[in-house]
Amino acid sequence: MSTVVIVGAQWGDEGKGKIVDFCTQHADVVVRYAGGPNAGHTLVVGDDKLIVRLIPSGILRPNTRCVLGQGMVIDAEVLVKEIEELERRGLDPIKRLFVSDRAHLILPYHVAIDTLRETSQPAAVAIGTTKKGIGPAYEDKAARRGVRAGLLADLSRLEKAVEQAIFGWAPTLRAFDQRVPIAAEIVDALRPLADRLVPRLADTSLLLADAMRTGQSVLLEGAQGTLLDIDHGTYPYVTSSSAAAGGAVSGAGIGPRCIDTVLGITKAYTTRVGAGPFPTELADDTGKKLREAGAEFGSVTGRPRRTGWIDLPALRYAARVNGLDGLAVTKLDVLTGHEKIGVCVAYETKDGRTRDFPIDLIDRPGLATPIYETLDGWREPLGAVRSLSDLPAAARAYLAFVEREVGVQIYLLSVGARRSETVVIRNPFEL
Ligand code: IMP
Repeated sequence: MSTVVIVGAQWGDEGKGKIVDFCTQHADVVVRYAGGPNAGHTLVVGDDKLIVRLIPSGILRPNTRCVLGQGMVIDAEVLVKEIEELERRGLDPIKRLFVSDRAHLILPYHVAIDTLRETSQPAAVAIGTTKKGIGPAYEDKAARRGVRAGLLADLSRLEKAVEQAIFGWAPTLRAFDQRVPIAAEIVDALRPLADRLVPRLADTSLLLADAMRTGQSVLLEGAQGTLLDIDHGTYPYVTSSSAAAGGAVSGAGIGPRCIDTVLGITKAYTTRVGAGPFPTELADDTGKKLREAGAEFGSVTGRPRRTGWIDLPALRYAARVNGLDGLAVTKLDVLTGHEKIGVCVAYETKDGRTRDFPIDLIDRPGLATPIYETLDGWREPLGAVRSLSDLPAAARAYLAFVEREVGVQIYLLSVGARRSETVVIRNPFEL
């Protein structure tokens, strides 16, 4: 039995879905601990594909319980749609799904305000959010006027809580020339959703304590990535939740000593979607080649992702703030066909060269410049690789360089989208 946290070590979209899918086969319970419908991963059901934003992919395995933890913000309408999509495909997700009664609800005014802010700001200062209401919902949580999922079981109390929240947002809505919504209308829209979700509400912290006490394995699945974490990310160009491993503790309601292993996921290069600093970005043909070969378009918004070389100081930083035990390197196959591969190994700052990630300097022009080493590339496609010894020598050297420079062992390697296109060096559930 093990409790493993999986966390994105970059700016999200590291290919977590595939690694989580691999790890899920070893887990009895899969928990999402932060974020909301701003995440997204594609599930393949028979010949059919669907994108889920809230429900962990573990739902496809017949005996895995899936938990939406208290660190999340949940849009009830999105969640019920996901449940119905899965039911339409012959699955029965509902009995294995548990929603923390302490998770906060995203309500229509959160989505409206997120969208209004994003669309009314000049592009230069907009965050580039997913417009799913994430920021305003966490703002309400911090302002202590949030609406928790548990209130779905008592709609008259929920209505009072919504009234308070609307009172808080009314000046903002008026400033945007918007109609201030009426709490009763919001409650009416929630009624049929509440009928579906109330039976799934639970004290999920207790559920996890029982699972761990009885020897079950738990997978805590982070959404977004370390550099989008509200505390550890490239603030203010971050999401509003604790996406890094620390968030797993409060967002799932477990103690820090319950965690056995923390696995960080990194692409073999870097991507970012939305605004904010990205020092190793390649705004040229090489970046375009990475985007095309890696199909780098957002799964929630469809936006093209920004692309660049791997940033080892940023990975060292992720290793430190998450306490990474191991790395999973994804999309190594996408680097095939580059004669030379750039690797950012350090930064030049006004105080000299540093191997640390100068996170407070990278958005200030000229204050932190990436220093690259150039490694040899390879031409061979990697889809058939099943062990490190199958890799071309240059690809092996590339991985060894990353491992040595970051100081964290590579546990898993992904060389394609299929489940079989994975090299297991160490299984994080069998340490
Ligand atoms: P929000 O989470 O919608 O508030 O967006 C804040 C920032 O996080 C924006 O730059 C988004 O593009 C980014 N973001 C949010 N969710 C994800 C994700 O799942 N993958 C990558 N970026 C994300």
